Amino acid sequence: MLHRRHFLTGAAAVAASLPLARTAWAQEAAKPFTLPKLSYPYEALEPHIDAQTMNIHHTRHHQAYVNAANAAVERWPALASMKIEDVLRDLSKAPDAVRTSVRNNVGGHWNHAFFWELMTPGGAKDPGGDLRAAIDQAFGSVDKLKERMNQAAVGRFGSGWAWLIVDKAGKLDVVSTANQDTPLELGARSVVLGVDVWEHAYYLKYQNRRPDYLAAWWNTVNWTKASENFGRNL
Ligand SMILES: [Fe+2]
Repeated sequence: MLHRRHFLTGAAAVAASLPLARTAWAQEAAKPFTLPKLSYPYEALEPHIDAQTMNIHHTRHHQAYVNAANAAVERWPALASMKIEDVLRDLSKAPDAVRTSVRNNVGGHWNHAFFWELMTPGGAKDPGGDLRAAIDQAFGSVDKLKERMNQAAVGRFGSGWAWLIVDKAGKLDVVSTANQDTPLELGARSVVLGVDVWEHAYYLKYQNRRPDYLAAWWNTVNWTKASENFGRNL
């Protein structure tokens, strides 16, 4: 899902074997984190999420996390060859000097890559199959799940996220994380849904009206992707 490259593979390996020939592109190739392309245009989620917000969110905010994550790799090269979910699940693996940067920026990269894929201009409007049955069992109905997610998202003071996860015990649960903390840190086995409630995700269109943004956001959810997420252990 996430776009990354490993050191000493592909173009980077060629560059390493020819040190005198190292060029700007080779240095670029050695960086593991890249901004993923969206599978839909920035205006595709209108009127729920406006094109300008999507553009700035993707090209400025997410790009900034990617850039800073790559800067963290320069300070902790081992990060380049580690599975991103393993790092975020146990941040104690990161050296003290880079732990905060990894939490914020690798976390920000993971969260946003997840978020883009979870939205779509088309697709199923409600969950089906196993995910639907699990939601009904855990929350009573899809509407009740939405209420729980909205409560978690509105209740998040400042910036952060609300998530639907499969927890350590294998149960569906709604949780919230601050800043760019990920649900992986909370022991999530799978991450099914996630909504960004940083103001940068909605302020241009909704200003301070986070509940209005959330109500609109549900119209963009890619339930087909959510079902895939439900069946995928991280
Ligand atoms: Fe964001």
